[in-house]
Amino acid sequence: MSEILQNQRISKDFCLMKVKEKNQAVMGQFYMLRAWGEYPLLSRPISVYDADGESVSFLYKIVGKGTEIFAELKAGDEITLDGPHGNGFPEAKGKVALVGGGVGIAPLYLTAKTLKKQNPDMVVDIYLGFSDEALLVDQYEKVADRVTVNVGGFVTDDIDPLQYDCIMTCGPEIMMKVLYKKCKSLGVEAPVYVSMENRMACGIGACLVCTCKTSAGNKRACKDGPVMLGSEVFGDE
Ligand SMILES: Cc1cc2nc3c(=O)[nH]c(=O)nc-3n(C[C@H](O)[C@H](O)[C@H](O)COP(=O)(O)OP(=O)(O)OC[C@H]3O[C@@H](n4cnc5c(N)ncnc54)[C@H](O)[C@@H]3O)c2cc1C
Ligand code: FES
Repeated sequence: MSEILQNQRISKDFCLMKVKEKNQAVMGQFYMLRAWGEYPLLSRPISVYDADGESVSFLYKIVGKGTEIFAELKAGDEITLDGPHGNGFPEAKGKVALVGGGVGIAPLYLTAKTLKKQNPDMVVDIYLGFSDEALLVDQYEKVADRVTVNVGGFVTDDIDPLQYDCIMTCGPEIMMKVLYKKCKSLGVEAPVYVSMENRMACGIGACLVCTCKTSAGNKRACKDGPVMLGSEVFGDE
């Protein structure tokens, strides 16, 4: 069990939780979180929003029973963290675009921070898409060269992919697919990495619940991903 240091409601249905936990979590990984006994049966996968070796933070949206329970927790309460799991975003060079939609913005904070730390000369632009209210923009501005915010429209319309050497995205599958197709139609050669947030059960590669079809065969989002190449996931469609 790990101690919750902070669990703050930052909007009507989004919370930011910081947990005391020694870790070596890297950008794009996730933990399985649990703060209950037997019900609900399954732990819930949540991306690493930030991590510093001594603590891990999670940005989560309240959508059902599990996240409702998380939102009730207070500083000093305990939570079970299992992880970090999965293959996150790769290192990159040159000019990078991070494109997030809704709660898919969560893993992009640590991603931007890490990329800048790996290479301070790198240009990291972030595109954040929200349906009704922008969140944490001031935080993302601290770790990126430029932050573009879209509320109520299509964040994929805001980006010119031809400007970038690498594109990384997380959000609704349809958003990531539209972005990948846009890149393809423009002849963009930069790799597009997508983070697949499929429903999960075990989170460690054993149950196959999270399997997705790719051009390289079936892959488990939890173990082979969640980050995969857009060309493998959407290339054949
Ligand atoms: C690798 C990974 C990383 C994730 N990272 C985050 C994160 O950083 N922050 C965050 O808020 N959420 C994240 N999610 C989604 C999160 O796991 C679900 O929202 C959560 O499990 C819902 O639990 P619940 O009990 O509150 O809702 P449930 O009662 O289980 O479901 C409520 C509603 O949410 C939908 N839902 C549940 N899981 C998913 C999912 N994986 N994708 C889309 N819809 C879902 C259900 O279909 C249902 O409509 C991530 C999922 C994965 C697989
Ligand atoms: S959630 Fe069980 S294999 Fe991915």
